[in-house]
Amino acid sequence: MTGPAASATPVRIDVPSRAGAYPVMIAPGISNRLPRLLEDVRRRGKCVLVSNVTVWRFHGERIRDLSADEPILLPDGERFKTLQIVGRVYEGLIRARADRGSTVIALGGGVLGDTAGFAAATYLRGIPLVHVPTTLLAQVDSAIGGKVGVNHAAGKNLIGSFHPPALVAIDPELLATLPRREFRAGLYETIKYGVIASRPLFDVLNESLSAVFARDPAPLMRVIAESCGIKARVVTEDEHETGIRRTLNFGHTVGHALEAVTKYRRFRHGEAVGYGMLAAAHIGASRGAMPPDDQEALARLIRAMGPLPAVGDLSAGQILDAIGHDKKIVNGRLHFVLPKAIGTCEVVDDVTTEEIERALAALGLAR
Ligand SMILES: NC(=O)c1ccc[n+]([C@@H]2O[C@H](COP(=O)([O-])OP(=O)(O)OC[C@H]3O[C@@H](n4cnc5c(N)ncnc54)[C@H](O)[C@@H]3O)[C@@H](O)[C@H]2O)c1
Ligand SMILES: [Zn+2]
Repeated sequence: MTGPAASATPVRIDVPSRAGAYPVMIAPGISNRLPRLLEDVRRRGKCVLVSNVTVWRFHGERIRDLSADEPILLPDGERFKTLQIVGRVYEGLIRARADRGSTVIALGGGVLGDTAGFAAATYLRGIPLVHVPTTLLAQVDSAIGGKVGVNHAAGKNLIGSFHPPALVAIDPELLATLPRREFRAGLYETIKYGVIASRPLFDVLNESLSAVFARDPAPLMRVIAESCGIKARVVTEDEHETGIRRTLNFGHTVGHALEAVTKYRRFRHGEAVGYGMLAAAHIGASRGAMPPDDQEALARLIRAMGPLPAVGDLSAGQILDAIGHDKKIVNGRLHFVLPKAIGTCEVVDDVTTEEIERALAALGLAR
């Protein structure tokens, strides 16, 4: 596991990318020390601050001195992750006379980071971007890897680009104000990392779950740093969505389908992934590829996180239909990530409809 938890020295993870390596710096209170960090990555030009109204109210104070201009504040919500709102960011950038030497500082969750990031990726064909993620999901997932983009009426994340940041500054203190349900949604992604790549991470979650929920800095630092390390490793080995990057889709085949059939209204993304991980573990264990003890340990941890939204009114048929439209189907074959044990997984392309049906029945869905 990484570093002395909650010490003043940040955990640093360097993420190589085709645009050059960038540091992910993790430490409690680090969002108060951005001037120094920007200096370290040689960003000396103008900073343009982009946030949303909710996050700015809680945490704007920490970064407002970086710029003399007013921040660009976007409305809060996934429904505002649109090209129209990107247009508002462009207007703010033009008003601030941002040039190629300027840096966009994105303070917010995944929605804000993706939207502001897409504006930074495209304004003047791309200007530097710094992520200061404020949700657990953004800290362990969306701020790392360089994907930015927005939704279209025809689908989620249909419009996007790769724009690796110049710096990611992760401050676990920012999570103190995060609503419990949002925090929990991010935790399912950290369970995912544990299952696909790190038994120690899984064990920390298991052993310190209530301390993590209380946002106790020491275990929280370990969970965030270990998760970021895994995401960084996977996206480094494979900057585009093939091969090993696919393992990050563990729990997402069924998860995305659950979100889609409930029109993205019932589940937080992480909650749907919670169900998806249970389904994948069921398939893995039924094939004899995953030890039953590990399947049970995963089920126990997911139960310990609290109840998930109900699925009894959904049918396996609906879910299978939605899986059929998923972009994880390549050349007609569905790639499915199956755990082999807590800490290792494999990508297979021979999961049958019947196996998925049985797994969904075990979750309580109708046939
Ligand atoms: N780019 C990627 O690689 C990638 C990966 C995963 C997810 N995503 C995207 O991330 C988005 C979801 O992000 P999310 O889960 O962070 O949701 P979100 O950005 O909508 O944030 C959730 C809610 O928490 C509020 N909030 C954020 N930080 C807060 C804080 N510190 N205190 C109090 N409230 C706070 C937000 O205003 C919002 O209301 C989706 O659009 C998804 O597509 C992108
Ligand atoms: Zn996810």
